Amino acid sequence: MQLKRAFFQAFAWSSLFDLVSGAPVSSKNSSSSQTSASALPSVADWATWGVAQVPNVLNATAADANSLAKGYRVVKSHYTQNGLEAKLKLINETNIYGYDFDSLTLKVEYQSDNRLNVHIEPTDLSDVYVLPEHLAFKPKAESEFYSFSNADLVFTYEKDPFTFTILRASSGEELFSTAGNPLVFSNQFIQLNTSLPLNHTITGLGESIHGFVQEPGSVKTLFANDAGDPIDGNIYGTHPFYIDQRYDTNTTHGVYWRTSAAQEVIIEEEALTWRALSGVVDLYFFSGPTVKEVISQYVHEIGLPGFQPYWSLGYHQCRWGYSTIQELDEVVKTFKKFEIPLETIWSDIDYMDSYKDFTTDPHRYPAKEFKKFLDTIHDDHQHYVPIVDAAIYVPNPNNASDNYTVFESGNSSETFLRNPDGSLYIGAVWPGYTVFPDFFANSTQEWWTESFAEWYKTIEFDGIWLDMNEVSSFCVGSCGSENYTQNPVHPPFVVGSSPTSYPEGFSKSNKTEYHSIESSISASSASVAKTASSSSTATSTSSATLDSKNTLETGVGNINYPPYAIYNWQGNYDIATHDVSPNATHADGTLEYDVHNLYGYTQTNATYNALLEIQPNKRPFIITRSTFAGSGQWAGHWGGDNNADWQWMYFSIPQALSFGIFGIPFFGVDTCGFNGNSDSELCSRWTQLSSFFPFYRNHNVLGAISQEPYVWSDVTEAAKTSIGIRYSLLPYYYTLLQEAHTTGLPILRALSWQFPEDRSLRAADRQFFVGDALIVTPVLEPLVDTVKGVFPGSGETEVYYDWYTQEAQDFEAGFNETLDAPLGHIPLHVRGGHILPLQEPGYTIHDSRKNPFSLIVALDLDGYASGKLYLDDGESVNITESLYVDFIAEGHSLTSAAYGNFNASQPLANITILGVDSKPSNVTFLGEEIDFSFANNTLLVTDLEDYTTGGAFAEEFVLTW
Ligand SMILES: *[C@@H]1O[C@H](CO)[C@@H](O)[C@H](O)[C@H]1NC(C)=O
Ligand SMILES: *[C@@H]1O[C@H](CO)[C@@H](O)[C@H](O)[C@H]1NC(C)=O
Ligand SMILES: *[C@@H]1O[C@H](CO)[C@@H](O)[C@H](O)[C@H]1NC(C)=O
Ligand SMILES: *[C@@H]1O[C@H](CO)[C@@H](O)[C@H](O)[C@H]1NC(C)=O
Repeated sequence: MQLKRAFFQAFAWSSLFDLVSGAPVSSKNSSSSQTSASALPSVADWATWGVAQVPNVLNATAADANSLAKGYRVVKSHYTQNGLEAKLKLINETNIYGYDFDSLTLKVEYQSDNRLNVHIEPTDLSDVYVLPEHLAFKPKAESEFYSFSNADLVFTYEKDPFTFTILRASSGEELFSTAGNPLVFSNQFIQLNTSLPLNHTITGLGESIHGFVQEPGSVKTLFANDAGDPIDGNIYGTHPFYIDQRYDTNTTHGVYWRTSAAQEVIIEEEALTWRALSGVVDLYFFSGPTVKEVISQYVHEIGLPGFQPYWSLGYHQCRWGYSTIQELDEVVKTFKKFEIPLETIWSDIDYMDSYKDFTTDPHRYPAKEFKKFLDTIHDDHQHYVPIVDAAIYVPNPNNASDNYTVFESGNSSETFLRNPDGSLYIGAVWPGYTVFPDFFANSTQEWWTESFAEWYKTIEFDGIWLDMNEVSSFCVGSCGSENYTQNPVHPPFVVGSSPTSYPEGFSKSNKTEYHSIESSISASSASVAKTASSSSTATSTSSATLDSKNTLETGVGNINYPPYAIYNWQGNYDIATHDVSPNATHADGTLEYDVHNLYGYTQTNATYNALLEIQPNKRPFIITRSTFAGSGQWAGHWGGDNNADWQWMYFSIPQALSFGIFGIPFFGVDTCGFNGNSDSELCSRWTQLSSFFPFYRNHNVLGAISQEPYVWSDVTEAAKTSIGIRYSLLPYYYTLLQEAHTTGLPILRALSWQFPEDRSLRAADRQFFVGDALIVTPVLEPLVDTVKGVFPGSGETEVYYDWYTQEAQDFEAGFNETLDAPLGHIPLHVRGGHILPLQEPGYTIHDSRKNPFSLIVALDLDGYASGKLYLDDGESVNITESLYVDFIAEGHSLTSAAYGNFNASQPLANITILGVDSKPSNVTFLGEEIDFSFANNTLLVTDLEDYTTGGAFAEEFVLTW
């Protein structure tokens, strides 16, 4: 979780612990200078505020590298076995944002028919950070010698000045071209500019809260940042990859810049400018030509998603503020009482002893009761996932009772980030002054594994939730170096939601109540308002206090205040604000400046290794906040600290689709909203929407009103309905998990991927497909009982069936249909041509898996449908037994063919066939004539258990009608 900046209060803990008290960073609209700080009562001001920067994109007079730089010329080149190599020489130095490298080496590699690499690096690499292969997969040529004859992509270039163009071989279409724009390559600024066709469709480039398509005018800042889901700001993860879908040719390609640098991408009407503040150019072009192929090609190269355990598909409940083990236990029991399925109960930092990792609070979460609780939920086949923060508490050396062995053992094996002078880098997070594990140090994995293993002896967790790993620190720089003897100190702001945070519309609908609460708190917050307004009105004139920018300095340059200031979504844009500073130093000498975007990624990898060590053959279950290209190998992601507002519910869809592109298909958001108070209508709609996301969790901030699905009767009913649908679809979802794991294909799919030739769908992000078979049309606004949706191809090539009535819908292609959607009902349709494997839902995943299977066969307009099912034990890493079943319906006959050795002993109960023209005269199953019912073009056969006692798919079956 993260502080909610707008709600910080003067009656924070800071009055007790004033060493780091002070203003948190203000909201984005008010950049504040250091002078505002003096209004605050404590010395912590220096600690939380960086030096104000003016982001380049907000500086109207900023130097335009594109028009000033002279670029490079090719001085020599030769062909290689799979491409080309050339030397580039600087034409004239301009040193706009750093010093220009004089000599570059260009290497072009045709890596496969659909992948081409353009690599440009300084000839002298001594001042350059090159991302090593062991940290992030580097796509490789498939063979030493490439024949070129089948290449989808072609590299061409101009010599003086050097520019290059990537063409699609089949059509000659320009996919990427720097023609007309100089390459800028300095120590702290690299720029490439490609032209784009008018009316382009660019997706990807994260992480941010934004609609699905990056329209002209978008500025994407790629810098991992602990910020609570601001619209268009840079947030937790970094994904330097975009997809360019071209409707004029019906082809799509993707572009990946393999770099850990801070970046900014500017999208214009007919251009895309990509800037990086360090590293080298390492571009990969993926030729598709379909969107799904582009995604699959990319995800294969960054690392296929890990296989999530089957139980991860269950319903997860969390909140910040389950303050005792009794309360946690009560929540589990209440779910049961209301018969709302609960698979996994989570803990935020409440369980920790003074917010220290790998501890439990001896009073609120005593170990003995904690263990008893865990034994009980495990007996009931439920799961438990606690949070683990990145930072490690530094115990107070002056207080013998403040010992913390996790710190001591890490410190003695030198596992923490350091200052340039070799001292420990000490920032501040929840427990007080903290250090930060350095996942580049050789000893860190062992220490991290050991810490988990020790802890697991008392707390048998089933998975781990990684938070604060951008890596977040509440102060600028090593603020604890001189102060850690004051530990424990508390964060410099109030924790949790303010009491002024009402449900949306509350001030109108509950006027009297609102005013009485308002006046009761207005006195206590008066001083806050003063503080806040003094920060927000302060003008940002402190650029004079900037360090000299040292733009011509050789070596690493000015890493604290790079000459090109990115639009970092923190109060004063300083890249050291609210995270570990760029000068923090890793064991191998690497500066945080170069690898900031990898912190969460390396930590997630280490956590995955630790969990595997503890339980070698169980798939580690990890949800992580900060991600990078490839994080999906080890973890899923939740959308971060969203707000309990309708807009954020909508944004969950484009965010989910984007994470599908990024190879992290196991995604979901804080259902009903994190920050602020939810309400029954919002929570009802959101609970139903999230039930179709791969990761389905309700989570809430400290201090907000409760929002478990049993709090409001409307939500209880809505939750039961949609959890029921989800659980019946578990075999389908699990098959999609396995498909994602083996092919890289996302689980949730944009309409524009399913119908890539229909330009009208290019930005559709209020509906989505689950796999290829289901389309979800959620209500995303209050006080309505209908919702509009599109059903591509309807009546022409496609037919859609209503999930609830099972009837074919009379929709029209290209038409915005109005669907009934009273509260508690989420429109769901099955696309004809697909077969869905289902299972009767139980209270837990374990129970559900014991129930009979069934099938829904949704025929297309030609009477055809197909589908598949994948099954295994749901948790092994080394899968020795698995089952694949293919279903085909064609010409009035449905066939199931299975292969594999996993024994799914549950019988088949029934088969529903949608879109049957007329009542059949007879129906046979395994050659025997059986009873059936027929109504509204739906054929239903039931009671198949007797025929499938050995397991639904143990033998091939044929059903005819
Ligand atoms: C804006 O850019 C110009 C040109 O690079 C620079 O001289 C000026 O200092 C910048 N303004 C600020 C406030 O940083
Ligand atoms: C390079 O830049 C310098 C300084 O602006 C200028 O005097 C010189 O003529 C330029 N040389 C070329 C080859 O453009
Ligand atoms: C671009 O889109 C606009 C609006 O849809 C349309 O009017 C225009 O004709 C399009 N231009 C091209 C070149 O496709
Ligand atoms: C792209 O698809 C559209 C719709 O099917 C079609 O009208 C158009 O001719 C296609 N363009 C090309 C170049 O194939």
